[in-house]
Amino acid sequence: MSKPIIVGNWKMNGLTADSADRVKQLLAGLTTSPAPGVEVVVCPPFTQLALLAPSLKGTPIALGAQDCHKDDKGAHTGDISAAMLADVGATHVILGHSERRRDYNEVDETVREKVLAATKAGLTPIVCIGETEDQRQSGETEDTLGWQIKGSLPDGFTGVVAYEPVWAIGTGLAATAEDIRTTVAFIRAELERQFGDAGKSLRILYGGSVDANNAASILDIENVAGALVGGASLKPDAFLSIIHAVP
Ligand code: G3P
Repeated sequence: MSKPIIVGNWKMNGLTADSADRVKQLLAGLTTSPAPGVEVVVCPPFTQLALLAPSLKGTPIALGAQDCHKDDKGAHTGDISAAMLADVGATHVILGHSERRRDYNEVDETVREKVLAATKAGLTPIVCIGETEDQRQSGETEDTLGWQIKGSLPDGFTGVVAYEPVWAIGTGLAATAEDIRTTVAFIRAELERQFGDAGKSLRILYGGSVDANNAASILDIENVAGALVGGASLKPDAFLSIIHAVP
């Protein structure tokens, strides 16, 4: 069985010095209190990947990116390919985050193509799915997630799925344990339906207002193999507490 995984999505926050300092504090914390049973990943902004890679090499913290393009190379001004991420030492990439679906109109097919590109480059894709508040209110949560799973995950998918209810992101209001349990059980069933036995072992993360106080109870839920953390991952103490909350 794969290790639980805690991923910090730093989004568009921090300049080089802030991020270098955060990495230093995280490494110091994991040296004092190691968490050998946990895979830890931090995903800084693109501009900091190459700068942070040397200090993370050979440490318990892996480096991830927040997006990639579907093509290997070409005329795509402003974009970054999966091979470029691997080239600077990234091993993971977040794809299909609801903020990209919202800001860049990324649809499931776009995400699926990016997953293929990431896998080809040897990266582990962390694919985000989640319903909006409107979809939740109108009872469309399962339909939405079902379509996202079907459309975003290609045949032979071996990455990580992150369930992030859009309404819980950055609001301080995480989904209740009962809601997470039910929804993640549905996601597991869908993964098994789509991928057969392989769907049983794909890791499912929860994301959306995970913090030092609620992490232990969320990470204890059946089928939850870790967390995708936004705001709290910017605070080293909080992120370390989340890592150490893995049962
Ligand atoms: O990708 C992580 C994220 O969207 C959750 O953000 O700030 O609610 O932990 P936050």
